[in-house]
Amino acid sequence: MVTSATYTRIDGKKISADIKEEIRLRVEERKAQGKKVPHLAIILVGDDGASQTYVDNKVKACKSVGFHYTMMRFADTISEEKLMKHIDHVNNDDDVDGFIVQLPLPEHISVEKITEMIRPDKDVDGFTNQNFGSIISKNPLLMPATSYGVMELLRRYNIETEGKHAVVVGASRIAGAPLSMMLTHMGRATVTICHKYTKDLASHTRAADILLVAVGKPGLITADMVKEGAVVIDIGTTRVEGPQYPKGWAILGDVDFKNVAPKCSYITPTPGGVGPMTIASLLLNTLRATELRNP
Ligand code: GUN
Repeated sequence: MVTSATYTRIDGKKISADIKEEIRLRVEERKAQGKKVPHLAIILVGDDGASQTYVDNKVKACKSVGFHYTMMRFADTISEEKLMKHIDHVNNDDDVDGFIVQLPLPEHISVEKITEMIRPDKDVDGFTNQNFGSIISKNPLLMPATSYGVMELLRRYNIETEGKHAVVVGASRIAGAPLSMMLTHMGRATVTICHKYTKDLASHTRAADILLVAVGKPGLITADMVKEGAVVIDIGTTRVEGPQYPKGWAILGDVDFKNVAPKCSYITPTPGGVGPMTIASLLLNTLRATELRNP
C-alpha cells in the first residue's frame, strides 16, 4: 500500500484571521465614507456552557473587525411568545443589520418557529427556509454559515471540486444538507449524502475524493474508511469532558485525525479547522446584510 508522505493541514484559524482582516478594512472604508457600521445582535437563551463559549467568541470577533454588537440574554424560562416578541422587535430595529438566535433553545421553544420568524435579509446564520433554498438560485441571499465557511476553505486552498466525488456524512439542517447543495450547485461536484440510515457507510466514504463529515460522533471516521489522497473536512464538534484533558474538557471532531491524516492530501484539524470559519462566515454575512440594506 502506498501512503502519502505528507499532507496539508488546512489552517482554518489562519484563513479566518485573513477574512477578519479583510472585513476590518472594509469596515474602515465604510466608516471613512460615512456609511453605516455593521451591527450584529446575538440572542442567547439560558446558560448552556458551550453556547456561552460560542457566543463569547462571536462577540470577540465583532470587536476585532469593528462591528457594533448587541448581546440579548434571556432566562431559559422565557416563553416562546415572549421570545417571539423580542425577535419581532429586532426584525424591525433599523439599526440592527443582522442577528442570530444561538441554538440549542430550551425544549419548550420551537426552533422551527423561531427560525422562520427571522427576517431572511437579517438571517446571518442563513438558517431560514428562504436562505436555505436560495443556495440553488443564481443570486443567493445569505448563505448557511458553516457550509459557507467550508466552501471558503476549499476555495482559498485552491481545492478543485468540479467533477469530483464529494461524500457528505450527515444530513443536518445546519451543516450536511446545505453543504451538499453548495457542493453540487456552486462546487459542481457529484455528491453522495450519507446519514444514520445509510448501510455500509465505509463503502461510500472510501469512494470519496472529498469527504466531509458533520455528525457529532468523535472518532467515527477511521483510517480504513478513507481513500489514499482524499481531502477530509471535519465539521463535527463535540464537547467531551474528562480528566485526561488539560482544561477538563476538549472539543473533538468526527475524524480520527492522527491515523487518517497520513492518508490525506488535505485535512482539517479540530479545533482550528472548520470551527473558526463559521464565525468568519457569520461576519461575512453580517457585512453583506449591511451592504444590501445600506449600500
Ligand atoms: N449552535 C451551534 N452552532 C450554531 C450556529 O452556527 N449558529 C447558531 N445560531 N447556533 C449554533
